[in-house]
Amino acid sequence: MERICEPELMEGLAQAQAYGAADFSGPDQALVERLAELVGPAGVGQPLRIVDLGCGPGNISFRLVAHFPQAQVLGLDGSAAMVDLAAQGLERHPHGRLRLTFRQALLPLDPGLAEQLAGGVGAGFGVVVSNSLLHHLHQPQVLWRTVRQLASPGALVLMRDLRRPPNPEAVRQLVQRHASGAPELLQRDYGHSLAAAFTLAEVQDQLREAALPQLEVRELDDRYLEIAGWLG
Ligand SMILES: C[S@@+](CC[C@H](N)C(=O)[O-])C[C@H]1O[C@@H](n2cnc3c(N)ncnc32)[C@H](O)[C@@H]1O
Repeated sequence: MERICEPELMEGLAQAQAYGAADFSGPDQALVERLAELVGPAGVGQPLRIVDLGCGPGNISFRLVAHFPQAQVLGLDGSAAMVDLAAQGLERHPHGRLRLTFRQALLPLDPGLAEQLAGGVGAGFGVVVSNSLLHHLHQPQVLWRTVRQLASPGALVLMRDLRRPPNPEAVRQLVQRHASGAPELLQRDYGHSLAAAFTLAEVQDQLREAALPQLEVRELDDRYLEIAGWLG
């Protein structure tokens, strides 16, 4: 089926709150553990600089500071409602404040801001993480350009997102299988997200166009794509 874009930012307060209240603990923790596997046991305790693109209410950013005890984590999102929710979470977990920062920033990043966030020319984040951002972007190259702007040389990139099912009936079945217990608003958003997602072949094309051959895409279970690799 053809891709149907959804609005990029999750700006509505009700939408952000419903998303923030939802339980994504399984996939969120799986992403963090996959990152730990990729950096290896010696890397987990290193002072990594991690950026979480499209961090939403910070659900993954909070898990990253908990799992990587020396890491500095920056969560970026273009939605003020999402960044406010993330900041409220920080108030409930003040210990995270020293190593976790949230900032409202719309992708594509202004080059001056990107350089400032990266910490200057040639600096950057050693780990770039993103979960469920790509399918929101109307122009997917925005994500790959942002990776180039923020990643340090040799950085590890790990992203997960939904993949688009072949037809509306498959969308309906996935919503039924994975979100039937969720509030109606979330079920609706989930169906829209599946329809807005990319296929494996489309992401491979994006990476070719972005000249990022180091990143590999693979399908995970019945609904996800994972994109991972170390930049040269
Ligand atoms: C589905 S949520 C994912 C949140 C979180 N990463 C997670 O995995 O639960 C996607 C987030 O991307 C943000 N987003 C979408 N387009 C964006 C853009 N162009 N710039 C910055 N943030 C964007 C939305 O506001 C939203 O908070």
